[in-house]
Amino acid sequence: MKNIYKNSTQNLNKAKKILMKNNIIAVPTETVYGLAGNAYSNKSVKKIYKLKKRPKKNPLIIHYYNLKSLKKDAYLGGEFLKLYNRFSPGPLTYILRKKKSSKISPLANSNLKTIAVRFPKNVIIRKLLKNLNFPLAIPSANISSAVSPVSSNDVLDEFGSKIKFIFDGGNSKIGLESTVINLNKKIQILRPGMVSIEDIRKVLKKKVYFLKKTNKLISPGLLKRHYSPGIPIKLNCERIEDKAALIVFGKKYMNNKKNTFNLSKNGNIKEAARNLYKTLRKIKNLGYKKINVVKIPNSKIGIAINDRLKKASY
Ligand code: TXA
Ligand code: MG
Repeated sequence: MKNIYKNSTQNLNKAKKILMKNNIIAVPTETVYGLAGNAYSNKSVKKIYKLKKRPKKNPLIIHYYNLKSLKKDAYLGGEFLKLYNRFSPGPLTYILRKKKSSKISPLANSNLKTIAVRFPKNVIIRKLLKNLNFPLAIPSANISSAVSPVSSNDVLDEFGSKIKFIFDGGNSKIGLESTVINLNKKIQILRPGMVSIEDIRKVLKKKVYFLKKTNKLISPGLLKRHYSPGIPIKLNCERIEDKAALIVFGKKYMNNKKNTFNLSKNGNIKEAARNLYKTLRKIKNLGYKKINVVKIPNSKIGIAINDRLKKASY
């Protein structure tokens, strides 16, 4: 494919040049693929919102190489540092108070007093961040409310030729978006992910809770319908409906019926997370009209799988 680029020094330089001109590229991260643009540039950020058809009130995550590069933009507290030392770089996003002097485009954080920040682990995106003198705003590389991409081909499936440069980093290792934790005033998990609430409790040595359902959109991205493949999804199914594809999990479902898709035959919940979005996209592209899903265990990253499925089924 002509707009997919492999990892090489030459392509890294190419990507860097595009970003410096305030244009947008697609990049791999360990969670999902994202659309990257200069977070200091209104022009870049506007392009991201337009490409994704994303509501302006839904802020973006700002991606940094290290702490040094973040210090100009946000206030870092003790709790943040504890979590940072344990989980970053990696799949954890922190909501911090933004500094008045920060150069982050106010469009990127929807004019809020806070910014979401993450330090991704994937080698390609890290090399890129290290070589730029601005952080990158990187939302998932899907049209707003659709399924996130976990390979360069998925990005192509979402955007076709609208994205001129897609950096190929193979399949995303985790396959679900990062955990989002609010550290501004209250500590709350806004979005479950690979870093579990237990992992966080252990480091902070205090109780931490998921954000309770409220009408006020503290994390505007927690829109009710999200992660949707565009066909109806029914959860906790015990038997399959007519004309549906069935998503199952574990050894119990060893039959190989054409309409049955096992997220992990070994019953490995991490493997299931990695396969979830790929499977939703595949079923949709095969032309099925609806999806049935059996009950998926609700612990560790299973909590994140169920969160995404629930929103996809809304
Ligand atoms: O794993 C990930 O986080 C991926 C990769 C590409 O890094 N990115 C990602 O971005 O999932 P996005 O834009 O699809 O999701 C960002 C989430 C949304 O739920 C948004 O509302 C929330 O982060 N968010 C961003 N800024 C916020 C803020 N200041 N306060 C509360 N929530 C915020
Ligand atoms: Mg997203």
